[in-house]
Amino acid sequence: MSSEEVSGAGVTAATSIAELGVEAAGRRSAYGAGALIMCDRVVRIYTGEGIEVQALQGLDLLIEQGELTAMVGASGSGKSTLINILAGLDTPTAGTVRVAGHDLGSMGAGERLNYRRTEVGFVWQQTSRNLLPYLTGRQNVTLPMQFSRMSRRRRAQRADELLAALGVVHCADRTPERMSGGEQQRTAIATALANGPSVMLADEPTGELDSATARDVFAALQTANTDLGATILVVTHDPAVSAQVRRTVKIRDGRTSSETLRHVQANEDGEATHHAVEYAVLDRAGRVQLPRDMTEPLGMRDRVKLEAEPDHIGVWPDDQAGRDEANGGAAR
Ligand SMILES: Nc1ncnc2c1ncn2[C@@H]1O[C@H](COP(=O)(O)OP(=O)(O)O)[C@@H](O)[C@H]1O
Ligand SMILES: [Mg+2]
Repeated sequence: MSSEEVSGAGVTAATSIAELGVEAAGRRSAYGAGALIMCDRVVRIYTGEGIEVQALQGLDLLIEQGELTAMVGASGSGKSTLINILAGLDTPTAGTVRVAGHDLGSMGAGERLNYRRTEVGFVWQQTSRNLLPYLTGRQNVTLPMQFSRMSRRRRAQRADELLAALGVVHCADRTPERMSGGEQQRTAIATALANGPSVMLADEPTGELDSATARDVFAALQTANTDLGATILVVTHDPAVSAQVRRTVKIRDGRTSSETLRHVQANEDGEATHHAVEYAVLDRAGRVQLPRDMTEPLGMRDRVKLEAEPDHIGVWPDDQAGRDEANGGAAR
């Protein structure tokens, strides 16, 4: 082989690697291009006292504008970590988070402050964390608008419109201690919406409330979504809440593991019926989390066999695994 041919082959390889790079970059920018919220392989590691907690382990999530999405998952699965990152209060260790065109990993201090003031609104579980105790409902709602160009009168007017839309206009002149827990949370939703944010984040907003009050607060979130056009991501433990949203995302071990989509269908009598389908999430690396309640009864562990069928993929237990163990590992 002549040296010319060798270098020729080298050039060809380099070109195709460069092309692959361009193609891969194109695919990266295409992922979530039109989405309002884009989480791409988000990792958040907490370190301290020699222990390392991987709260988010490569989480992917896309949320479109106008959606009301519920997020569920066991305690410690990473829900609050994600909400804090989306709120601009924390930054990812690795991966990309983009909300309404802002890259949350690389924002400077000024952009971050502006992002928190105008692009996101939040409602936390603790009613006391959402409202200032010495201000009335109306004053709480107008407070985030202090940096806007609206006149004082227009701000008060907007506060009253929001309070009315959320059914708490009677709380306009009350301080939080004179409101019920549900009224406080609905006033908090109004406050979160004051600047017309691109997205509203709510971390277990009904967690401290009894179930009837929780229903009212959730109804207020739905109003914020349908009547006021807010895109909402709400963390909840309440199955009654997740049953009422179109999309529920489940987090397990710091990753999105499954999604439940609900469709309204008309039955033969023309009545609307709700139809829920749970999907496993297939990430861009081709990974799927198999639910433990499906794998454990079949003794699936470490390895499974896959069989491609024309219209589906079969997953089978590794029948070799039992035999290896019976032989005391002699087969290995
Ligand atoms: N500030 C922190 N320092 C260390 N570990 C943390 C911190 N915040 C959360 N974690 C850990 O990260 C994991 C995810 O926590 P979190 O996001 O609060 O879960 P969730 O909201 O789903 O209950 C847990 O193991 C938790 O102990
Ligand atoms: Mg939490």
